[in-house]
Amino acid sequence: MTRRIFVTLALGVSMLCVTAPISAQDTATPAPIDAKTKAEGLKNWAKVHEVFSHPRCASCHVADGRPMWMGNGDMKPIKHPMFVGGDPDNQTGQPGALCTSCHGPKSSQTEGGPPGADVWLLAPKEMVWFGRSSAQICAQIKDPERNGNRTLADISTHIREDELVHSGWKPSKGRDPAPYSIAQTAGFFTAWMNTGAPCPTESSSE
Ligand code: HEC
Ligand code: HEC
Repeated sequence: MTRRIFVTLALGVSMLCVTAPISAQDTATPAPIDAKTKAEGLKNWAKVHEVFSHPRCASCHVADGRPMWMGNGDMKPIKHPMFVGGDPDNQTGQPGALCTSCHGPKSSQTEGGPPGADVWLLAPKEMVWFGRSSAQICAQIKDPERNGNRTLADISTHIREDELVHSGWKPSKGRDPAPYSIAQTAGFFTAWMNTGAPCPTESSSE
């Protein structure tokens, strides 16, 4: 008898838990209202994409566990030398060559010195941006399974507050910072989110 009541209660509670997050998600990304709003949204996304695909960001957002080196003068992108990385599931480096054994809390201002932050590690492999199209990055950023289970509002906060993100604007000597500023990038992101977060199609130039 008590067991039966318990089962009924447990069922009821679990059904509540299942329905609640779904309705919360529906309101998180409202559908674009009209073509003009969508065009506005795509314009803001193009700016966000300019930042996300910039070497100061994409160098750490890789799929194969190997950070990239890009953009020193006219240097072509190369994989991080010195046998760094190689295991897609290892974000912090190999024993004996941990990221933090070379990357300190601040970006070096000596030519050829490493950039830094208090913690320095690769982005998880599912957050891959290097070599991906704008449409692919846009789809990834909206997918809670691949964005660290974040809402778009959480991502805007992450841009505003995360130290690794900010490292893109405080590079080591000889490397260009990411375009715009932290506040502008978070602003483009929020404006994009508020216009229904539209994504470009594969064939569009954005
Ligand atoms: C043996 C030392 C060493 C280790 C270990 C190391 N790095 Fe580096 N890293 C460097 C140096 C030195 C530079 C700067 C090179 C330059 O400016 O020419 C650098 C540059 C970088 C850059 C800048 C590239 C760019 O295009 O902005 C990234 C990103 C990076 N490392 C990520 C990592 C990550 C992630 C790890 C751990 C998985 C790691 N590094 C481990 C020495 C190291
Ligand atoms: C040193 C490596 C590194 C650099 C450089 C870096 N990131 Fe990341 N990024 C990470 C890590 C690690 C995570 C995962 C953090 C987490 O989930 O808590 C991440 C996650 C993110 C996320 C969360 C959502 C997602 O799906 O990607 C955003 C947004 C982001 N980074 C933006 C940026 C931007 C913008 C730049 C450049 C201005 C940048 N990052 C540069 C390592 C880096």
